[in-house]
Amino acid sequence: MAELEGLEFGKSDFVLLDEVNMEQFMENLQLRFEKGRIYTFIGEVVVSVNPYKQMDIYGKVAIEAYRGRELYENPPHLYAVADAAYKAMKRRAKDTCIVISGESGAGKTEASKYIMQYIAAITNPNQREEVESVKNVLLKSNCVLEAFGNAKTNRNDNSSRFGKYMDINFNFNGDPTGGHINNYLLEKSRVVQQHAGERNFHSFYQLLRGGTDDMLSNLHLQRNPEAYVYSKEGASVITVGHAEEDAMKVIGFTSEEISSIYKIIATILLLGNLEFECDGEIVQLPGAGSVSHVAELTGTEPETVSKALLYRTVATGGGEVIEKGHNKLEACFGRDAFAKALYERLFAWIVGRINTVIEVKNYNPALHGKNTVIGVLDIYGFEIFDNNSFEQFCINYCNEKLQQLFIELILQQEQEEYHREGITWQHIEYFNNQIIVDLVEQLHKGIISILDEACLTVGKVTDTVCLETMNTKLGQHPHFTSRKHCPTDKTMDFQRHFRIRHYAGDVTYSIEGFLDKNKDPLFQDFKRLMYNSADPVLKEMWPDGQLSITEVTKRPLTAATLFKNSIIALVENLACKEPYYVRCIKPNDVKSPVLFDDARCRHQVAYLGLLENVRVRRAGFAYRQPYARFLQRYKMTCEYTWPNHLMDTDREAVEAIVTQHGFEGDVAYGHTKLFVRTPRSLFTLEQERAALIPILVLFLQKVWRGALARMRCRRMRAIYAIMGCYKRYKVKSHFFEVERRFASVRSMADYGKSVEWPTPPAALAQFHAITQQLHRRWRARRIIKNIPPSDMLEVRAKVAAMEALRGERPDWGFGRAWERDYLANPKDCPQSSSNFMRASKDLKSKDQYSQILFSGSVRMLNWFNNTKDRGLVITDKHIYKLEPKKYKVHKKIPLDSVTGLSVTSDTDQVVALHTATQDDFLVYLQRGELCPNQDRIGELVGTLCDHFKRARNTPLPVKVSSMGLSLHMSGKPKTVTIETKAGLVSADFRKSRAGFTLLLPSH
Ligand SMILES: Nc1ncnc2c1ncn2[C@@H]1O[C@H](COP(=O)(O)OP(=O)(O)OP(=O)(O)O)[C@@H](O)[C@H]1O
Ligand SMILES: [Mg+2]
Repeated sequence: MAELEGLEFGKSDFVLLDEVNMEQFMENLQLRFEKGRIYTFIGEVVVSVNPYKQMDIYGKVAIEAYRGRELYENPPHLYAVADAAYKAMKRRAKDTCIVISGESGAGKTEASKYIMQYIAAITNPNQREEVESVKNVLLKSNCVLEAFGNAKTNRNDNSSRFGKYMDINFNFNGDPTGGHINNYLLEKSRVVQQHAGERNFHSFYQLLRGGTDDMLSNLHLQRNPEAYVYSKEGASVITVGHAEEDAMKVIGFTSEEISSIYKIIATILLLGNLEFECDGEIVQLPGAGSVSHVAELTGTEPETVSKALLYRTVATGGGEVIEKGHNKLEACFGRDAFAKALYERLFAWIVGRINTVIEVKNYNPALHGKNTVIGVLDIYGFEIFDNNSFEQFCINYCNEKLQQLFIELILQQEQEEYHREGITWQHIEYFNNQIIVDLVEQLHKGIISILDEACLTVGKVTDTVCLETMNTKLGQHPHFTSRKHCPTDKTMDFQRHFRIRHYAGDVTYSIEGFLDKNKDPLFQDFKRLMYNSADPVLKEMWPDGQLSITEVTKRPLTAATLFKNSIIALVENLACKEPYYVRCIKPNDVKSPVLFDDARCRHQVAYLGLLENVRVRRAGFAYRQPYARFLQRYKMTCEYTWPNHLMDTDREAVEAIVTQHGFEGDVAYGHTKLFVRTPRSLFTLEQERAALIPILVLFLQKVWRGALARMRCRRMRAIYAIMGCYKRYKVKSHFFEVERRFASVRSMADYGKSVEWPTPPAALAQFHAITQQLHRRWRARRIIKNIPPSDMLEVRAKVAAMEALRGERPDWGFGRAWERDYLANPKDCPQSSSNFMRASKDLKSKDQYSQILFSGSVRMLNWFNNTKDRGLVITDKHIYKLEPKKYKVHKKIPLDSVTGLSVTSDTDQVVALHTATQDDFLVYLQRGELCPNQDRIGELVGTLCDHFKRARNTPLPVKVSSMGLSLHMSGKPKTVTIETKAGLVSADFRKSRAGFTLLLPSH
């Protein structure tokens, strides 16, 4: 904060001085200058000391720091004032102006440029193209105006030789929409003559040094400025750049216009070198070369040019027109006046041209809202030269006017505010320079009036006569003096000097040339010459050349009156805006960044009225704030107001804060604002506030974090509640759906097998699997219950077969009745069944088995590996290999010795019964007549498996392989492969390398 900037840099606001006197003021100013703090506030006024070196305080970062901030939030800076002016304009739709004052070289123009750059940087955040181009032109216009209106003087290498007031227009958004430049009194005498060591306007040197060879030769110029009378003074100072040309292009000057501008500059330089020769009475121009060049450059005829230079046309009373030759002096005077007028009109034209580019176009207040303005005034500073002439007189008068405005506004504002707020106002003594303003501008009595009168008087009124009049009329004025009134003062000459005691110091003016400069005569012939130019740009600058010589024109206003009027208009314009001030101080006359010339600065501080400014600011009240804002800022420093007060009005709450801190004697209560007399009180509050803020921040963070966490927690709970309800809803609706779909399965033929299960919610996945299983079991139970006990054996066997074959065989006889004992079945074996019945009876009585598990005819290998037909009988005790006729037993092994079965996954009927003795049975089941072509493997496998499971409680391993069978014969491993063979009647085994091949007939 500005108030809290370290004390080692001095006080950032002069109101904070312990005592307001010149010593302390200067001490602080010097300390800050030496510490590189070139800006200091007096309330809202910025005092700026020219650092004469590049400061690292203007970049983007600084702009961001000041953007939108209050004055007291940052160290003093031009940006702070620019922002305050911009904010006031934007927030309150007020026109504002920034008045930059100070003497030549104090840094006004630089300040105005920084202010413009700041405004350009903070506006148009949306980068709208039309606004960007307005900003660009506004910024670039500086460059052009500096090239044509600035010159090197002994005080400032880049001294503005004209006054500039620039209005920047803003739309309701706060973006620049255009602008307007007013220029004041260009110091045109500089065109033809400069003080020793000074230079002409930059534009001449920029053209001569920066122009291309082609360009110069077209303009009939040589590169050396010393070659021209008008530019030879100071020609040795090297300048660089020709930047104004680019800037002109950016602004929108056409190349014809730029070329006309250079032609005019060249014309002026060539005019300066014209010399006149006397031939008796007649004055002549020797050497027609230059004249023809001038004619060429101005688009005129050489003869008319020389005529205008040598003669003057006068209208006699009788309406006749005669030509009168000049004497040499008149000719030189006419030439110089012409050169000055050319430049002055060129400059005015350039300003006008820039204005046409930047003027606000298509603005409709109804559509675009109020159009507000920020004015920036950068006008030549107060000047005291060794020889002060008419120009200095005007410039110093202008500064008097501005000082008057400053006094009026600053006091008036304060006064008005105290009055408005009902506060008793104490008058502060200050020097009111109105008296000097009056000395200059008062009607009939003022210096300007006396000058004008002298100019109007017919006959020869000389400067000296005019001075006499002044002596008579103003002799008594306390701010006017001359040698006549002060005969002992040798610094003034009789009949030559007069002195005005300006607010900023005494200035002795030399009356010589005053009348001429005031009259500012220019022979009509030149105006006509220029008006008739073939160059349209040039013609446009001389509209008054249109008048014919015989036309009686009103006497034009004098230069001083014109200037006075323009300055009065300027002051009126400024007075109706909210003003912001930048007061520039020049620390020394040698452009040194380290030298602080105490006497020079003291003088400036005095004449700028800065001490009075501080006193006014302090004697009144250094700070004022509306109650609500004050409360907002300091309410945390008082228990009654934090966090919110319960009093009737904000004013009472503010009183509570003030009383708590014991500042009662230091404040006054206005109608809407609190006024604090000393900044110290405010500091105490600020410091307390600064100490409390971190605590408050922590407190707020704590509360807010708590609030956030509670919010989050509530949200989570709500989420879980919603999720719970939704889950319950899903579960319930799943149950209802299952119930609905399965309600009638009991009466359905398939007991609900075809009913589709609804998709369960994830939470019910396990439950769903169990229910499905339950349903399957229930369904199985229902089905099994319906099977008659007689069928049970077959069902069991089929179930066993299904489990054992695991779906790997395509056909396993599932769909037909399993007869088991096929050999005894007369339908299957009509010829042999009776034989078998007999044989089996014997076997039963002999081996005591209780049932035949399977019987059928088979093909198998005999001892010699030949394929033979046999009968296969499997009882619950044994396996028999029988001879196929009488069914005598060939071989018998106990069923217990069977360790497993192997079948193929094909449709063939081969099966290997593995035995514990590794002497396996390899049989090919033959089908009888009952069910030819049907599978009996499934039946054999199922029956045996079921028997083993049921009777012995041990599962019988069954191997289903797709690549033939593996088995042992007489303890040796063998492989049985299966092939089909065409032409074969019945299946047949063949010996192969690894065992056997079962050959099957191909059907
Ligand atoms: N803020 C600054 N930072 C660096 N240099 C500065 C600054 N202000 C001024 N200067 C230097 O001082 C010189 C003179 O400043 P400037 O031209 O602004 O003076 P001025 O008050 O406009 O004078 P005049 O009345 O003659 O036009 C500049 O050319 C520059 O070298
Ligand atoms: Mg300047």
